[in-house]
Amino acid sequence: MRVLGYESSCDETGVALYDTEKGLLAHCLHTQMAMHAEYGGVVPELASRDHIRRVVPLTDACLKEAGLTLADVDAVAYTQGPGLGGALLVGAGFANALAFALGKPVIEVHHLEGHLLSPLLADERPEFPFLALLVSGGHSQIMAVRGVGDYEVLGETLDDAAGEAFDKTAKLMGLDYPGGPRLSKLAEEGDASRFTLPRPMLHSDNLDMSFSGLKTAVLTLVRDVEAQEGGLKEQTRKDICRAFQDAIVDVLLAKCLKALKQTGFKQLVVAGGVGANRQLREALNGAAARRKFKVFYPPLALCTDNGAMIAFAGALRLKYAHPVAGYTVKPRWDLASLPKA
Ligand code: KG4
Ligand code: ZN
Repeated sequence: MRVLGYESSCDETGVALYDTEKGLLAHCLHTQMAMHAEYGGVVPELASRDHIRRVVPLTDACLKEAGLTLADVDAVAYTQGPGLGGALLVGAGFANALAFALGKPVIEVHHLEGHLLSPLLADERPEFPFLALLVSGGHSQIMAVRGVGDYEVLGETLDDAAGEAFDKTAKLMGLDYPGGPRLSKLAEEGDASRFTLPRPMLHSDNLDMSFSGLKTAVLTLVRDVEAQEGGLKEQTRKDICRAFQDAIVDVLLAKCLKALKQTGFKQLVVAGGVGANRQLREALNGAAARRKFKVFYPPLALCTDNGAMIAFAGALRLKYAHPVAGYTVKPRWDLASLPKA
């Protein structure tokens, strides 16, 4: 069975074709980052309009890359939520119209389930059950994953998501959108011994996290340093980025280790955009080697939003494929409410 998948929940339009026997056949992506950079963040209305512009050419490119045509598609999957309402409607509207025209069924996919299962697209794959650290721009959760659709949230952020903390901190330090990857690049050249920032909830007796206080601590530090140095020197900026990244990585690592101990699981899956962070990967890989557990990541290109994870999650949920009969989107959608596949 071949599933054509659509992702349009935020600022990336993704289209991919997944074959249940041959694996991922093709995936095409357009990122709107350059368009939103001018405004310092995602502008929802512009995002929706750009998805409309991209969805047809990306579909053509994806089918061309796979060497197939629409006649070879057996089902159409799309991100139903969570995400930006207008952006989701573009993918949902297009996927339903296409499936209706082809006389094929549709499958609604939860965006976070796509992220969560994306490490199963890598060469080295985890087996159920595993622990998942889901760290994206909108979510930070630690989950027990016992099967497709069998998700238990063990801990989550009480305020900002990890990616959101990266982006907001980057913005207040004067870095362009998207700040997360830029901040992490500067941090690599920072001096880890110069500043120390708080590690919120590091020693709390649960698996919850909180990152908004860290952002405020950076703001205070930047103001102090600016007053002393008469501005923010380039090296100082790098040193602050490093202190911020050290704090986030420490908290995420500590919470993962605690969750592994609590569940007894020996496998950790890291998904979502922040999973691309090099320092986080080094910290988790180092701990895994010392403590004898395994860490799995999606292929690097599939860490941030993409259509491949949606086509794949759709393929794992084929039993829920159904004929087109109207559609809705779910800008807010609890992952733990999904039925088992
Ligand atoms: O999963 P994703 O593409 O979109 C959401 O579903 O939110 O994640 C995007 C988030 C952004 O906040 C971005 O700044 C962050 O992932 N991100 C990173 C890195 N690459 C992307 N954060 C830290 N270090 C990175 N290398
Ligand atoms: Zn995402």
